[in-house]
Amino acid sequence: MRKISFGTLTVTESSKELIINALNNKRLSSGKYVEEFERRFAELLGVKEAVAVASGGDADALACAVLYDFGAERGDEIIVPALSFVATGNSILQAGFIPVFVDIDFKTLNIDTSKIEEKITNRTRAIMVVHLMGKPADMDKVLEISNRYGLHVIEDAAEAHGGFYKGKPLGTIGDMGAFSLYVAHIISTVEGGIVVTDNTKIASILRSLRSHGRACNCKICVLNTSQNLCPKRFKNDTKSDMRFLFERIGFSSKMNELEAAIGLGNLEIYDQILQKRRHNLYYLLEKLAEYEPYLYTITKDPDEEIGPHALPIIVGPEAWFTRDELMYYFESKSIETRTLFASMPSQCDGFKFLGHRLGEYPVAEYVGNNGLHIGVHQDLEIEDCNYVLDTLDEFMRLSRRNYKRATA
Ligand SMILES: Cc1ncc(COP(=O)(O)O)c(C=O)c1O
Repeated sequence: MRKISFGTLTVTESSKELIINALNNKRLSSGKYVEEFERRFAELLGVKEAVAVASGGDADALACAVLYDFGAERGDEIIVPALSFVATGNSILQAGFIPVFVDIDFKTLNIDTSKIEEKITNRTRAIMVVHLMGKPADMDKVLEISNRYGLHVIEDAAEAHGGFYKGKPLGTIGDMGAFSLYVAHIISTVEGGIVVTDNTKIASILRSLRSHGRACNCKICVLNTSQNLCPKRFKNDTKSDMRFLFERIGFSSKMNELEAAIGLGNLEIYDQILQKRRHNLYYLLEKLAEYEPYLYTITKDPDEEIGPHALPIIVGPEAWFTRDELMYYFESKSIETRTLFASMPSQCDGFKFLGHRLGEYPVAEYVGNNGLHIGVHQDLEIEDCNYVLDTLDEFMRLSRRNYKRATA
């Protein structure tokens, strides 16, 4: 039987060489490979700066924490879609903000922009959009609202590598874009995350935040890549060591050289990975559209490219089977599945203390109960995609027959 795993990790020969070098040099914590990875990631997206961190969740949290340098106070609010991987909501709380949730749009799985304004208060500091499953959020509308109310825009682009909105790479449209580099993602460093921005001030704040909030935040010092003593280190009013002056509440969130080595290899073959995943995703999306109204998925609009992270499937209200029955069938045929997350405020226990109730976010809750996603990664061939489709077809036929028998 074929095995359709959810994600895969490509480790190139060049990555292996870099790893051996790093091990031989005993230079394993953040150094020149991390710096190189950041430079190339920024170049790929056409932005000025990229700051590597320990995870995608940290990328979100640090992006939020940047807002304190722009006048935000602890306990201020960040608007965010109700449905996402739980890391999105966690990161806002970890950074000391209150997440204010907005229901999603069923068609795009992204924040319902028509419901944002009613959630804005005088404590709102930012809108954090999530390009869920690589499907671009409605950024024109988000930017129009954020400009009108003077809010920052953070893009959780964890699942959005390779996605474009009106010609712009996802993650580069707001003030900051936060990517995950976890194994199942399109560019991976095994564990890791990265924040991109065109704002050099924001980048230097991020460099400080990832290293405990140090005052010393220029690239060369934080990454310790120079053989010589950094000339800036003792050049301040007090003549004390800048590396041990802490200006903000920071995080311990650096990437190491081994992770960056894997990431550098991934960047070398990025185009191949992207083309393969895009081909798999668009093929599956087209075929899946035939199953409406029993199954729903996302569709590609003409002015966008979907970041080919995974294939979302939502069981429709008219279906005779449940999401869990379909997941179980896929799994029994060695097709790995994931749920399509949950409404963070009303379906995740960790958020209970915020006082939200089931029913407040009906669309997110529906998707939370009825959605799943499966892999489209670069090691899957078209035969694997057909195996998924054949298995789905088989499930539909068998379950329909059982349903008819049971209801006859
Ligand atoms: C939308 C979203 N945000 C944040 C994250 C967190 O990323 P990580 O697992 O690298 O911490 C993920 C993880 O997949 C995600 O899907």
